[in-house]
Parts: sequence; C-alpha cells; structure tokens
Amino acid sequence: MPTLAELARSHTRLTIDDVAHLQRLAAAWGMLADLCFADLLLLAPVAGEEGHRFVVLAQVRPTTDQTLYRDDMVGTIVDEVERPLIARVWRIGEIGVGDAAVIGQTIERANVQAIPVRHRGKVIALLTREAATTTGRRLGELERVYFEIFDRFARMLYEGTFPFTGGALVPEESPRVGDGVLVLDTESMVRYASPNAVSSLHRMGIHANAQGQRLSDIGLDDDAVRTAFAARAPVTEELEWGDTSILLQVIPLLEEGTPNGALLLMRDVSELRRRDRMLLSKDATIREIHHRVKNNLQTVASLLRLQARVDGVDPRKALGDSVNRILAIAAVHEVLTEHREDTVDLAELLERLRATLVQGLVSGTKVTAALENVELEGQRATALALVFSELLGNALEHGGRQVAIRLVRREGSAVLSISDDGKGMAGAAEGTGLSIVRALVGDELGGSLTLVDDAGLRAEVVFPAGG
Ligand SMILES: Nc1ncnc2c1ncn2[C@@H]1O[C@H](COP(=O)(O)OP(=O)(O)OP(=O)(O)O)[C@@H](O)[C@H]1O
Ligand SMILES: [Mg+2]
Repeated sequence: MPTLAELARSHTRLTIDDVAHLQRLAAAWGMLADLCFADLLLLAPVAGEEGHRFVVLAQVRPTTDQTLYRDDMVGTIVDEVERPLIARVWRIGEIGVGDAAVIGQTIERANVQAIPVRHRGKVIALLTREAATTTGRRLGELERVYFEIFDRFARMLYEGTFPFTGGALVPEESPRVGDGVLVLDTESMVRYASPNAVSSLHRMGIHANAQGQRLSDIGLDDDAVRTAFAARAPVTEELEWGDTSILLQVIPLLEEGTPNGALLLMRDVSELRRRDRMLLSKDATIREIHHRVKNNLQTVASLLRLQARVDGVDPRKALGDSVNRILAIAAVHEVLTEHREDTVDLAELLERLRATLVQGLVSGTKVTAALENVELEGQRATALALVFSELLGNALEHGGRQVAIRLVRREGSAVLSISDDGKGMAGAAEGTGLSIVRALVGDELGGSLTLVDDAGLRAEVVFPAGG
C-alpha cells in the first residue's frame, strides 16, 4: 500500500513541507474521527487537474462509531462529477456541508462536511467528514459536546493552526477520546467531563463533580494547561497517584491563533506502566542470571585448577570428584528453574544431591536424612551444595556403614551436620575436598566448620540463614 508521501509524490504537486504538514495531521486525526463519530478522508488535487480530480491520501475510521468505508480508500481518485461538493469547497476555500454519494457506491448516501486544510496561508488539501445520513435521532450531551469540539478543530484546520508542529506523543500511548475527555475554557474551568474522564478522576482520588469547577479547585494542577495556552501547542503530563498513572494531554483550542479553550484527554496508563516496570525487571533478571552463570563457571574453573595442583592423584578419581562438584552446582540451578522464587529450599536441594551421590554407590552404606526447611539465595545455596557434596562424599568414601544427615533451623542460622560411624579423621591430613569446604564455608556462607571425631566423624556447618 502506498504511503501518504508516495501518493503525494506520484499524484500531486504538494511540496515536501506540505506533505510533512499532512503527515502531522494524519498522526493526530484519530482524535478528530472519534470526536465527530465518522470516517475522515484526506484529499489532495491531482496534479494538472486541480479542482477537478482528487486523490485520497489518507483515511481514518472512528473508534466511537461504525465506518462507512469498509474498503481501503487510500489511492482512490474522486472527480467533480462524483463529488461536486469537494470541487466547490476547493474552489471557494470555505468549509462546506452537503449530502453526497458514498465514494465508490451508487445508492448509499453520506452526510459530508468538507474542510479546507490550510498550510502557510494556502489551502493544500481537503479533509472530509463522511457520516451516515442521520436518522433524526436526538443527540446526547456527549455527542453534542464532541461535535462542537470537532467544529472548533475544523476551524483550526481551515485557519492553518491544526495540526500542531510540536508536542507530539508516542502514538501508541496518546490518549484517545474514548479514554476520557475534559473540555476546558480559558480559565481552566471544566465545561464538560466525559464519563471515562470522571472515572479516571475517581481513580486519582478526585470525587468532586468536576463540571463547572476549575481544575485547581478540584485538586488538579493546571500548570500543563497554562503551558499549553502560552505555547499554543499540546502539552503532555503524567500524574501518579499511588499505583495509578494518568497520562494527560492538553490540546489548546485556538481561534484565529488565540486560545479559547482546551481539550484535556486523559488516559489511565497504570497497566502500561506496570508492564513497563515488569519488562525492566525482567531485563535486570536476565542480566543477573548471566552474571550468576559467569560466577558459577568461574567457580568450576577454580575447582578444576585446585584439583590440578594436587600431585599423585589418580586422574580418574580427580575427574570423578570434579564431576560431582559440577553436578552439585547444577542441582542448585535445577531447583531454581522449577520454582518462581529466587531462593532455594535447602531441604529439597540436599535431598536431590543425596540421591545423586548415593546412586552410584556399590557399598551398602545406609544414609538417613532429617531436613528442615531452610531458604537460601542462589549463590550461597551453590556454596552449600558444594560443601554438602564434599562432606557426604567423604562420609560415603571414608566413613562407616551408616551416615546421618541433619539440617536444623536455629534463630537466624542453620546447622548442617553429617555424621558417620567410621573411624573419624584420626589425625589424617585434610586434602583438596576439605580445603574447598573450608574456603566456601568461610568466604561464601559466612559460617563455621567443625570436625569432631565422635564414634565416627561428625562434620558440622553453622551458617546464617533466614530472618
Ligand atoms: N568422614 C571421614 N571419615 C574418615 N576419614 C575422613 C573422612 N573425611 C575425610 N577423611 C580423611 O581426610 C582426608 C582428606 O579428605 P578431603 O576430603 O579433604 O580430601 P579429598 O581431596 O576429597 O580426598 P578424598 O577423596 O580422599 O576425600 C581423606 O583422605 C580421609 O583420610
Ligand atoms: Mg573428599
């Protein structure tokens, strides 16, 4: 589908500056369609056939009513025979109203208002309002007010003061008429408040009847309105009331260039902002996870480096030990992926690790576990997983026939003990395994390790946790 600029270039004599003006109009005119409950078409004369043939450059449908044009009209050529009204309005340069055939249809009629669009003192295009022929239905207050506002915008198009050159919003955030409208006079007095605007005000804690009162009287700051009047351009402001965020857009209404009122569109963007925040925190989470993965890989690297420094160890055993250490780190990730929380339940983690470590065992060592629930954040849980894996590994390897694991919660801390019924350390030199345990307990867990020979070895780790 050709763009407005492409159509203008191929069919008309509009300058780049004219096209920019029409593009600004097309970016803002959804509001106009909503205000007049009708389709809008933007037409420009075809080059060389000015006043006789027109090309539809753009089209917008109202969100407040049905459309007359289900088909896309952009690019359609309309001539003076089909639409004498627009040819006349183009010639005279004044706003005109009349009954006309719906473009491209023979029977269906439309109520058409044609408005000259002026730019730098020259009429460059026509905007037509295409409405179904009225059935004589009486208008409600909202409709009357909106029609009146539309007419004021029509006047501004004719005078060349609309669209505005500045103050544009991100189009997808821009409030629409249906979101809530206040009509203000030059004193910031509310002349009309649409039902949705009243709801938005309620959400902001304003329960006073706004109509007939000044913004400042109902507790709404009118700085934005004053700025818009002074600048003769739209001003956007976002107000926050607790969890509620309301986006306000003040559009000054001008008559011969002088403000004679304003339209205040308000949109509850709380949900939008909530999602913005969620996306931001997702973003932060992803970065945090990369950071943790990097940390864990560094841990794996230093464990391997440590292992490599020890002389005279069977390489198979060395690799086997390393595999167990890596599996211990993986277990933490496994627990983390299965839950929404950012903390790890140690009972669940240790139970898993126990199962993995006991699995490959041929000896008939009996392992019992009594685990209370203790929550630990990811990084410290990783340290504890490694500590546990080393200590249980030792008990299985060097201990007796029975191993008891206990995890108990104490005030502000937790105690992990692993006891076996073997011969105890009995003066044996600590190796790589216990040096890893000592380093992790001290540096990562901020706790202490005691090894007690007590009818076997009892290894006890006390570390701060919870509360
Ligand atoms: N539960 C235990 N019962 C008896 N002796 C133990 C126990 N735990 C450790 N030891 C002794 O301490 C030594 C050092 O253990 P450590 O875990 O520090 O070394 P390692 O590098 O893991 O080697 P290993 O595979 O032998 O455990 C072990 O070789 C063993 O003699
Ligand atoms: Mg060991």
